Amino acid sequence: ARILVIHGPNLNLLGRKEREIYGSDTLAEINRLLSEVARQHAVELEFFQSNHEGAIIDKIQEAMETARAGILINPGGFTHYSIAIRDALSAVALPTVEVHLSNVHAREEFRGRSVIAPVCIGQVGGFGKQSYVLGLLGLLKHLERDAA
Ligand code: DQA
Repeated sequence: ARILVIHGPNLNLLGRKEREIYGSDTLAEINRLLSEVARQHAVELEFFQSNHEGAIIDKIQEAMETARAGILINPGGFTHYSIAIRDALSAVALPTVEVHLSNVHAREEFRGRSVIAPVCIGQVGGFGKQSYVLGLLGLLKHLERDAA
């Protein structure tokens, strides 16, 4: 299986900014950790980061043509208002898991609402980089179930 991992806006700054909220790992370190988990499960990951809504939408649409099995996404700030990203995920209809480093429910009220979550199979947040690992494992379990 090949899975698309999308990191949304500002996540390229990880490890350098707001470490008390998001931890000290960089995006490269998170991707390395995910690659390790993927290797153990014999799945392939494609990583993508963008600060641009349209670029993320293009990538999601592309996932259909390139026959990705599923999507792991941290939509960053777009989580809370991007109907366009939600519509793209809904259109491609690939199993998708939403992840967040922080516990979005323990922060500002506006972060408690995700317009993306309703088109996902599940959401993981609050565990730092392990949110990504847990999200990936959940997605793989879901795909196994589909294949069975
Ligand atoms: C985030 C939470 C969002 O509210 C925020 O805008 C981010 C990061 C997280 O991973 O905790 O960019 O998605």
